[in-house]
Amino acid sequence: KIQRTLAMIKPDAIDNSPDIEKVIMDEGFTVVERRRVRLTRPEAEEFYGEHRGKSFYSSLIEYMTSGEVLALILAGDDAITHWRKVLGPTQVSRAREEAPESIRARFGDPDNDSNNAVHGSDSVTSAQREIKFFFPDLTLEPVLTGE
Ligand code: CMP
Repeated sequence: KIQRTLAMIKPDAIDNSPDIEKVIMDEGFTVVERRRVRLTRPEAEEFYGEHRGKSFYSSLIEYMTSGEVLALILAGDDAITHWRKVLGPTQVSRAREEAPESIRARFGDPDNDSNNAVHGSDSVTSAQREIKFFFPDLTLEPVLTGE
């Protein structure tokens, strides 16, 4: 089934975005939209609202506002799961063990759990929310089967 997902290249990996975009192309995703932006603190807090109160929340917000990010809408077959597989595990040290070819293993920081290079929506609901967050004015046609 064709889906859309929100990919975000984080501040520590923005200089590697050409290499990361090559992976995106090689994996067969279509880039529907792109936007490079520096998030304000309130924006980062909204995007990561579900993590409010967690031990890593304030350092995550600090990090996510430290420089520009590149947000991309990706489309493709099973895009949500496919993109998360290409990313690898959230923790870079684990990604290096379990998925050495993954983007987080290649471009993330194994010594800092926030600096994992890239983000990917984890469900249809979060993909819709996150796409709307970065592209509020964009009207997208519904995809044929499921969102
Ligand atoms: P992401 O997939 O964007 O979603 C939440 C982010 O919080 C995660 O990637 C990391 O950047 C960051 N983070 C920092 N510490 C942790 C942790 N211990 N567990 C999960 N996420 C963490």
